[in-house]
Amino acid sequence: MPTNQNSKKQTIDNKASTAPQKSQDESTPLGSQSREKGSSPKANRTKNVRKSNPFEKSRPKHSPKEHEPRTRTTLELLKLKGKRNIVGLTAYDALLGRLVSDAGVDFILVGDSVGTTLLGHPTTIPVTIQDMIHHTAAVRRANPECLLVADLPFGEASLSFDRLLESARSLMQQGGADAVKIEGGRDVADDIEKLVLTGIPVLGHIGLLPQTVKAIGGYRKFGSEREEAESLYTDAIALEEAGCFALVAEMVEASVASELASQILPPLIGIGSGDGCDGQILVTPDLLGLSLGSIPSFVKPKLNLNQEISRALSEYVIDVKKRKKSPSS
Ligand code: KIV
Repeated sequence: MPTNQNSKKQTIDNKASTAPQKSQDESTPLGSQSREKGSSPKANRTKNVRKSNPFEKSRPKHSPKEHEPRTRTTLELLKLKGKRNIVGLTAYDALLGRLVSDAGVDFILVGDSVGTTLLGHPTTIPVTIQDMIHHTAAVRRANPECLLVADLPFGEASLSFDRLLESARSLMQQGGADAVKIEGGRDVADDIEKLVLTGIPVLGHIGLLPQTVKAIGGYRKFGSEREEAESLYTDAIALEEAGCFALVAEMVEASVASELASQILPPLIGIGSGDGCDGQILVTPDLLGLSLGSIPSFVKPKLNLNQEISRALSEYVIDVKKRKKSPSS
């Protein structure tokens, strides 16, 4: 049974009518809003202000925000193991950061999946440390009420420990991350241990490592063969001993992930690794059905935002094209 070196290393409008109103955009051409004689532009402007904060509107009544204490530290996250499932989601900007935080997640990951989900890259490999700082800082500006973890992008862990330390520090100092995530097992464990000792909390990542896609030749499940399952176990133990506060297990055979979760002290957060993990994380755009590519088969999208957004945008484009020009313009 693994030893618990982990815990000691945690240093870590405005009309009253309820009838549907045509929006300003639908009913009046630009500049012809009913400006009353003698009224100041400012007084006029107040008629068109937003009725409420859209984020307030979207917050569910049962929002965990009001009812549950939030997970703000790595230690609090670690303590959830065995009590309830931990939930993480990705976010890449202030808007998604706020929405995801309001949903009550335990942690937000600014994943290098930003490359494939938002930036149009075919893999996560082209994502740079500057990209990650930029997107992490945007999520931090949303003031999330949970732990904020940023991904260390491709190559940053393999040059030298100084480079790794510098990159991890920049994600925390410039990006405002609370912790970093590093892909890899025993090969990066020594460096992770040194990071943890300098006060940088690390989330490990085993199983499918998307940053190695060019080396492994594609995305696939891990741990079906006994040898690979044993190798995953060795990696998990090495990361636990290095002081990771939790591990992500991506595309790991469900029975193997479940066994790993029972063998290690830090929580094992699964993605495509079955329900036997200590928690789950998903790439938020996948969950929302908002994707330029295909959505992984293990994701059951809650929405089809691609369709919803396309429909709304085309309706708007058709509306504007059909609209008659006002004689004054
Ligand atoms: O980059 C990312 O979003 C991730 C998750 C798939 C865990 O690493």
